Amino acid sequence: MKNLLKLLDLSGSDITAILDLADQLKFDAKNGIAQRPLAGKTLAMIFEKNSTRTRVSFETGIYQLGGQGIFLSGAESQIGRGEPVEDTARVLSRYCDGIMIRTFAQETVEKLAYYADIPVINGLTDFAHPCQVLADLMTIREKFSRLEGLKICYIGDGNNMANSVIVGGLKCDMSVSVACPEGFDPHPSVLAFAKDNAKFSLTRDIREAAANADVVFTDVWASMGQENEREARKTAFAGYCVDDALMALTNNAMVQHCLPAHRGEEISAEVFEAHAKEIFDEAENRLHAQKAVMVLTMNR
Ligand code: CP
Ligand code: NVA
Repeated sequence: MKNLLKLLDLSGSDITAILDLADQLKFDAKNGIAQRPLAGKTLAMIFEKNSTRTRVSFETGIYQLGGQGIFLSGAESQIGRGEPVEDTARVLSRYCDGIMIRTFAQETVEKLAYYADIPVINGLTDFAHPCQVLADLMTIREKFSRLEGLKICYIGDGNNMANSVIVGGLKCDMSVSVACPEGFDPHPSVLAFAKDNAKFSLTRDIREAAANADVVFTDVWASMGQENEREARKTAFAGYCVDDALMALTNNAMVQHCLPAHRGEEISAEVFEAHAKEIFDEAENRLHAQKAVMVLTMNR
């Protein structure tokens, strides 16, 4: 695997290979078996948006693999002063062994990868959050011992998480039902990918989407970069909440939330706390899934 830019670029068997290695690396870490396949290597970590989980899990992960992470904030590097991404890509390729980037436009990540000689990993764009959904699929597979045949529902904004859940779920032969308010649908390229798949459905009705689901996903109503839409979105998303009444329609589902969560908006405090173990297992699995991605891309 050269890069991880979006799940649309991977096959179902690529995803399975990442999850299998992630399981192995998690087992090794829990049993004190040190793996240092990236000894001496560095990962540049560019953040043009805030982060807690992504930064700490990548930095910890590369350290555990024997390498070193280098944090670059957009604001404090020359990126924030407008240095072109194609120049940043070529400079970092002379120093580092991989680049993780969290930014706004997917095109920035694609351009970075085009100009870089080293692997590029997408740590979230407005379009996709592939590392998160790999960790989520790992968490679901840990619970059910399989992915194929399970039903996922996603309730809320057709954002980066929705896009990646749809693509990841369908590539792993899961059923994916999405409920979004009108005007907040997933990206057209994702809908084009999903539209002929009988296992995909899009509705405005959260109850219809949640019926008999094995896994319930949700995410914030206003993503990073949409702070000025927050109030308008509260109106648009009213009712798109994962609460006890919605959970009662599911197949005793597990809940996945990438975090941070807004209790009382997309998820009730009761559902969040009842499913906290699953949600924090999901957060933990960012570490293991990303270690697998780094090994598969950077250990070449
Ligand atoms: N879920 C996630 O990506 O969290 P951070 O924004 O804290 O990195
Ligand atoms: N959709 C959210 C995910 C945060 C991890 C955002 O982009 O802000």
